[in-house]
Amino acid sequence: MKICVLYGGTSAEREVSLSSGKGIIEALKKKNHDVIGIDFRGTKECLLQIMNLDVDLFFIGLHGRLGEDGRVQGLLDLLKIPYVGSNVLGSALAMDKARSKKMFALKGIRVAKEKLVEKHSFIKESFSHELTYPVVVKPNHEGSTIGLTIAQNEAELIGGIDAAFNHDDVVLLEEFISGQEVTVAVMGNKGNAKALPIVEIVPKNAYYDYESKYAPGMSEHIVPARVSDEMTNLLQEQSVLAHEALGCDVYSRVDFIVPKDGGNPVILEVNTLPGMTPTSLYPDAAREIGLSYEDMIETLVELSMK
Ligand code: DAL
Ligand code: MG
Repeated sequence: MKICVLYGGTSAEREVSLSSGKGIIEALKKKNHDVIGIDFRGTKECLLQIMNLDVDLFFIGLHGRLGEDGRVQGLLDLLKIPYVGSNVLGSALAMDKARSKKMFALKGIRVAKEKLVEKHSFIKESFSHELTYPVVVKPNHEGSTIGLTIAQNEAELIGGIDAAFNHDDVVLLEEFISGQEVTVAVMGNKGNAKALPIVEIVPKNAYYDYESKYAPGMSEHIVPARVSDEMTNLLQEQSVLAHEALGCDVYSRVDFIVPKDGGNPVILEVNTLPGMTPTSLYPDAAREIGLSYEDMIETLVELSMK
């Protein structure tokens, strides 16, 4: 098949996407596809190049805004060329952490207590909230923990909000939940999505930050996760529910915290274009069901052509 891989891009996760793209391109070549890679910078030349391509499928290896958020998916819809992964709406919803949390809550999935802060109405001096510290401060439309800080007090919170505004006009504050970080890879066509074995993440740093995510050896991935059978079933059930609640397709990766104090898992987010780098989690989950990296990429291609 003739497949075009879009990678790189202009988001803050560009470096991650360069690595995902490299892996995806190499895997597709090993599977004997005719592959063309494009560093998708959204320039006029780049758009013209895409419009004039004669390919069977696009594999979007982009992460973050202008790639994972539905806009590229919309462009490819207009061109009537199939692509791997979720459609415009699912991609856009998943990129908006606060809005997607509303969908999860409607399905009965536990979410962290939050407050949303918007740049246009944020007044430092009169800012108040009812959250208990520590509070996680994150840009609402960002990935890979870029711009994320954990505030222990009011001063750190205000500093964190200011810092997060450098990445996004909307900042999400959430009560920190102490527990095991786990993630669930979901795979399959609409109506037939299945959860893969749970991956538990043990970062070397205090939490699963950018360095723990991408510097080799900075986090340990334990598959299957050290949780009860009952918790495994619940995580698998809720990850598919979350994937479907956003209308996702073919694949996604759903992040949760299993609280130390017990109770239901707390969902963090759905990633519609999960990392495919050498330290990424989705390939680890696939390996656990016997799919090598190349087989996993090939499976995603096959699902996208159905
Ligand atoms: N946002 C990164 C790429 C991930 O979720 O894997
Ligand atoms: Mg993410």
